[in-house]
Amino acid sequence: MSLEGKRILISVSGGIAAYKINFLVRMLIKKGAEVQVLLTPAAENFVSKLTLSTLSKKPVYSEFYSENGTWNNHVDLALWADLMIVAPCTANTLSKMVHGLCDNLVIATYLSAKCPVFIAPAMDLDMYEHPSTRQNLEMAEDFGHVVIPAESGELASGLNGPGRMAEPAHIVAAIETFFSQNQALKNLAGKTILITAGPTHEAIDPVRFIGNHSSGKMGFSLAEEAAKRGAKVILISGPSSLQTNYENISLHRVTSAKEMFDKVFEYYKEVDIAIASAAVADYAPKEIAVEKIKKSDDSLFIELIKNPDILKTMGDQKTHQFLVGFALETQDEEAHAKGKLEKKNLDMIVLNSLRDEGAGFQKDTNKIKIITKSDIKSFDLKSKEDVAKDILNFVEEQMSK
Ligand code: C5P
Repeated sequence: MSLEGKRILISVSGGIAAYKINFLVRMLIKKGAEVQVLLTPAAENFVSKLTLSTLSKKPVYSEFYSENGTWNNHVDLALWADLMIVAPCTANTLSKMVHGLCDNLVIATYLSAKCPVFIAPAMDLDMYEHPSTRQNLEMAEDFGHVVIPAESGELASGLNGPGRMAEPAHIVAAIETFFSQNQALKNLAGKTILITAGPTHEAIDPVRFIGNHSSGKMGFSLAEEAAKRGAKVILISGPSSLQTNYENISLHRVTSAKEMFDKVFEYYKEVDIAIASAAVADYAPKEIAVEKIKKSDDSLFIELIKNPDILKTMGDQKTHQFLVGFALETQDEEAHAKGKLEKKNLDMIVLNSLRDEGAGFQKDTNKIKIITKSDIKSFDLKSKEDVAKDILNFVEEQMSK
């Protein structure tokens, strides 16, 4: 694929793999990209600015100020880029990135970047496998960055194993794949999607609640996939430990079904698509005790009243929205899901059965069927990220009909 006109910012940190960046720059330039190279102070020990600026046809910066007294504006550099790649990314630079420790031009530029960020880590075997590195890489992925995993082989230390920076050809391939998918995937640009996620907690007293095992993973995966496709995402989540840092996801955290209901209808009118993946509690205690309920020798009765059905209300109030519900069933799955599709005035419903191994609460995988008024399609067991792709592909297909 040609990278004609793509602006790529390469930030080099101080590892021995930095010598390979000359090849990376050369390959990207050959494919038509514009390349701007930045170095951390430590990277200057490993590569020559002259070589890199000759190959990239641009000055290479490592300080906030150039020798002639001009300021190398990190905000401009960051906004210029269509993609930033940190390669090689050392344990030190990785750690500074995810914790916002801003003591050089590379990190200041990274913190100002609004473009996709790629990371090609390179470090010694044990450093690469250290829990701190693992956690920092996970954090980087949670920020929405793309980590190009280190490859295995002989390392500068003489050890053999994972830690070598991915080969420049592999980095170029990852960048090309990203741009080609991204072009294809921007088809939700201009659309606003509302997604509900996670469980709800219905208070019994100040310390206890009625809840369920939903983790929020399916809803968060949907939100991130929709964000990647260019949608503006309103994610309304019940209590969940998950985080997301995509720029075009606005995350609203709520606790109870009532709060989720109120938040949904703050936005519902203005959205194009709504996906209800939350496991909303059907009932809530009629009264919330002001003080902690004391133990006694008698049985305890809590009167429960019906919570509002958020999705059904969305169906009743539907004007133009494409409405997607979820159904988690244990028996007569398809019949029940079809019933909900009708009753809640949905455009499609995603069915998962607790009888399928690997599907349901707290799992990283899911196995779904998608049901519309005229169609039913079964999918294999997949990661929730891939299930999110299938669901949004289906939504896009249906909306274009
Ligand atoms: O009727 P049932 O609870 O099985 O329907 C599940 C679907 O309805 C899910 O999409 C869920 O998010 C939504 N729902 C809701 N509000 C409720 C109960 C369920 O939005 N109170």
